[in-house]
Amino acid sequence: MTTQSHSELAQLPVGRIAATLPGATAVLRSFKVNYCCHGDVSLAEAARQQGANLTDLAKALCALESSSALSSLSVDTNTLIDHILNRYHDVHRRELSALVELARKVEAVHASHPKAPHGLAQLLHQMRGELELHMKKEELILFPAMRRGLGAHLAVQIVQMRHDHDDHGECLRKLAHLTDDFTPPTDACRSWQALSVGTAKLSEDLMEHIHLENNVLFPRFQAMPR
Ligand SMILES: [Fe+2]
Ligand SMILES: [Fe+2]
Repeated sequence: MTTQSHSELAQLPVGRIAATLPGATAVLRSFKVNYCCHGDVSLAEAARQQGANLTDLAKALCALESSSALSSLSVDTNTLIDHILNRYHDVHRRELSALVELARKVEAVHASHPKAPHGLAQLLHQMRGELELHMKKEELILFPAMRRGLGAHLAVQIVQMRHDHDDHGECLRKLAHLTDDFTPPTDACRSWQALSVGTAKLSEDLMEHIHLENNVLFPRFQAMPR
């Protein structure tokens, strides 16, 4: 991404900013701007939806080093898919199973605490099931077809994956709500603190995962939705 004025930046699709400006996803997350599920929305609109200050946000993005660091757009498709599988699919599987158990424990031990995260274990269990199904579809059908270069025939599957991602995004909103935005109470035990840290990481990872697929991988095989 070349140097942009604040007003030019405000009109760019937020997914393109996330995909082309190294470090942008962390800035967007800190302003609570959704860059993964609705990447075709302009930065100005995405900021408005979250009530984020557009001037501060544009300033923070412009301040990022537009160094020689390669953006994810320049990575070849096989390498990108390998990265998604190793860094996100495998990690979600491992961490979600542990988080379900941890949430069950915290909910049971602190059932009478006024800030007890009632329903969190059930939500994480649901996310584990839905993600497993979704990732299997990518691993067994979509990604192998992409590796074989069968892009022209994948439009329907990609639309379905984007719908699944929207559902994951809805789960992430519920997750933030149930965990008080990943903030444990001041008297939280070690397990509860670990649960807050673990769910925050899951949320961050899943947003990055969806972003890489929606805004970097899928557009190589399908025009961005209008
Ligand atoms: Fe995936
Ligand atoms: Fe996906």
